[in-house]
Amino acid sequence: MNKDVERILYNEQQLSVICDRVADQLNRDYKGHQVVLVGILKGSVVFLADLFRRLDFECCLDFMAASSYGSGTVSSGNVRITKDLSCNIRGKDVIIVEDILDTGNTLSYIRDHLGAFSPASVRICTLFDKPARRKKNISADYKGETIDDLFIVGYGLDYDEKYRNLPYIGILKPEIYTK
Ligand code: PRP
Repeated sequence: MNKDVERILYNEQQLSVICDRVADQLNRDYKGHQVVLVGILKGSVVFLADLFRRLDFECCLDFMAASSYGSGTVSSGNVRITKDLSCNIRGKDVIIVEDILDTGNTLSYIRDHLGAFSPASVRICTLFDKPARRKKNISADYKGETIDDLFIVGYGLDYDEKYRNLPYIGILKPEIYTK
């Protein structure tokens, strides 16, 4: 285990089971639809890669990136798109794939932004939902797990751009982010 991790919250096997369950739901709901999966960089990439390979309906893949500028670790709510879509989503069923839905500032902004391109539908699929800190009226249509307000890293999630490559979800030692 990484020395900066206090304990493992979800190991590789547990994450695989979560991916299976979410993929089963999507496969049931989107059979026969024209789907575009939109991964939100960077945190979603590991989950997206695992999820995408479990989907058995035809779907395109695209990416967006957004940042909320402000100070410190708390999302400011001022979201800015730093990478927009490459493909046309008009008339398509869009699934936004995220690693975590926290305050909801990012997904709320991105969902509204995508809505302006006239997709047939826009739904949200997140690995983790952290409702304790929600600031926007937004919820996930598909979610892996609901979690407490813990500082988690790994499986794509970072602290200061580190730990994304850990194959598990770990709880970061408080001394790492308070020093
Ligand atoms: C994280 C995460 C979500 C967002 C969720 O991204 O990937 O996009 O924060 O927080 P919110 O619900 O409070 O808006 P981050 O900005 O840390 O960038 P990253 O994906 O590149 O790590």
